[in-house]
Amino acid sequence: MKIAFFDSGMGGLSVLHHAMKVLPHEQFVFYADEDHVPYGTKSTAEVQKFVGEAFDFLLKQDVKAIVVACNTATSVAVAEMRRRYDMPIIGMEPAAKKALDLDGTHRVLVTATPITVKGRKMELLIEKVDKDHLVDRLALPELVTFAERQEFNSPAVTDYLREQLAPFDLKEYSSLVLGCTHFNYFKDTLRTLLPENVAFVDGNEGTVNELIRRLKERNLLENNPQQVEYFYSGRKVTDLMELERLQKCLGRLEKMYRI
Ligand code: DGL
Repeated sequence: MKIAFFDSGMGGLSVLHHAMKVLPHEQFVFYADEDHVPYGTKSTAEVQKFVGEAFDFLLKQDVKAIVVACNTATSVAVAEMRRRYDMPIIGMEPAAKKALDLDGTHRVLVTATPITVKGRKMELLIEKVDKDHLVDRLALPELVTFAERQEFNSPAVTDYLREQLAPFDLKEYSSLVLGCTHFNYFKDTLRTLLPENVAFVDGNEGTVNELIRRLKERNLLENNPQQVEYFYSGRKVTDLMELERLQKCLGRLEKMYRI
């Protein structure tokens, strides 16, 4: 059986990329909802509908677990999916706790999409982990658009990020949380704008660890040759140009992995 990774678009590849390293004997299905990306600037009801459609499709693909490799979809739809389906469903939330655990005295800047930043789930997370009021939040929706058109380090990206980060006194921060899976593509550009004291924190490793834990619990780990099938909103990707686009994204993520 396969493990599904689902995102609105190319962001979820950053989680799949890590999973491919640590689970070399599993078969993966990657589902990018390319017909509806971006999610982060749409209404909650719309995103819930798209996630429901993606799950309906994925459940017909012989999957044993679904990783919602999208903080935005997790924020508004994962609870309902867990109520509906009895299988391991692993969601993601901005790694604010991990960032505060690394350094509990300096500020933490959580970046994510508008839905995630404003959502109830984020409020609850902050209430629970940010006892000293060290966390600030910043929505960076344009990064999703840039990533989807594979524009990762153009002057427009740099200008956008410089402008968005300008209100923050970055010397006061210990980390920047990549609270949207699309943001991992921009670590090199971000690195040039952030002082050395600011580290990147993301939830990819924690999410894949949780996936492994859940699979082990049900004795579902397998020993197959690794394989990945790609789908855009329920259509299998066979077009060579699109497969090349996906490989280029994975290549970029490999470079970002070391930053
Ligand atoms: N990659 C997604 C996330 O982690 C959502 C991006 C979007 O579609 O707005 O939040």
